[in-house]
Amino acid sequence: MVRLSILSGLASGLCALANPLVKRASLQQITNSGISNPTNVGFYMYVPDKLASSPGIIVAIHYCTGTAQAYYSGSPYATLAEQYGFIVIYPSSPHSGTCWDVSSKATLTHNGGGDSNAIANMVTWTMSKYKADSSKVFVTGSSSGAMMTNVMAATYPDIFKAGIAYSGVPAGCFVSSSGGVDAWNSTCAQGNSVATPQAWANVVTNMYAGYTGARPKMQIYHGTADATLYPNNYNETIKEWCGVFGYDYTNPTSTEKNTPLTNYYRYSFGPQLQGIYAVGVGHTVPIQGTEDMKFFGFSGSSSSSSSITPATSTLLTKVATSAASTPTASTGGSTGGTVAHWGQCGGAGWTGSTTCVAGYTCTKANDYYSQCL
Ligand SMILES: *[C@@H]1O[C@H](CO)[C@@H](O)[C@H](O)[C@H]1NC(C)=O
Ligand SMILES: *[C@@H]1O[C@H](CO)[C@@H](O)[C@H](O)[C@H]1NC(C)=O
Repeated sequence: MVRLSILSGLASGLCALANPLVKRASLQQITNSGISNPTNVGFYMYVPDKLASSPGIIVAIHYCTGTAQAYYSGSPYATLAEQYGFIVIYPSSPHSGTCWDVSSKATLTHNGGGDSNAIANMVTWTMSKYKADSSKVFVTGSSSGAMMTNVMAATYPDIFKAGIAYSGVPAGCFVSSSGGVDAWNSTCAQGNSVATPQAWANVVTNMYAGYTGARPKMQIYHGTADATLYPNNYNETIKEWCGVFGYDYTNPTSTEKNTPLTNYYRYSFGPQLQGIYAVGVGHTVPIQGTEDMKFFGFSGSSSSSSSITPATSTLLTKVATSAASTPTASTGGSTGGTVAHWGQCGGAGWTGSTTCVAGYTCTKANDYYSQCL
């Protein structure tokens, strides 16, 4: 009897190892990973019901004012995870206003002890727990999450195989001259940080000095009407990665009009870099889930957008619609020209109401975020 229960205890222990930890098909916070998490970044993940045997991983990084939860429900990656069997890691910013630290020396350095280091540790932990396919580890994000995507690609080229940035700035562009953590940089935001491809490439290579291995391929989305991170950030980001890969940024190898949407222009600069310039689109470029799956190699590059299933296309429409409104709709929100308790009421690029409902005051957290408190 005693032996039997020991045996069954052992067997269930083994089962727990082989079939681990995280509850499937819902967003779960990981609190017991034991990873080094120097800046206390929130660690959330989505493991699909239909997990691939050697799964890929996508790190999906939220915008300022966002959270892991908001990006989980406002982006198509969890739905796509069920279709393709990969795991999604949603880091959650620990900073006031929930932007990412893309300005300190720590975060702009490989194993430097900043947010980038914390996120990289989440990825390596997940890779080992789930025996992930190291050739399918990717990063993407919107706005501040797109800045962080470029930073992750620059600081951890050994981990990531590809990155997709929706409306960011070049890696290192937000650097703070005084070493500030999570600092705003108006020069960069307004598109006035201009450098040669070689100078930008040096910024990237200095983040992981001595590294000579492969680097992730990159896809850069930006809207021409972006009033938060001015469109010249598209050009500078393209220059940066062209510098890294040795491509000529003045001479795309191909230009596709109305791709993937009407008024979007896709420029290829070589096998490792595409820019997608969205004419007339503002700061919120809607996530192109089907395109992302092609770029990451989960789906064939020849499949057209007509192949998306009704369920996915409904979700994508929902995302596109909610993304077209301000990305802060999920955090508080406003009614009738007044902003509810906790809602955003100001900050760089903010075009919504600046009036709080009775009893609350619009309180500045930093240059890019004020909240009704
Ligand atoms: C802003 O970033 C640029 C590089 O893009 C840097 O030269 C400048 O010093 C930064 N500004 C501040 C105030 O830190
Ligand atoms: C930025 O790139 C776009 C797309 O190639 C181009 O139309 C635009 O003129 C460029 N802007 C600058 C300032 O070079």
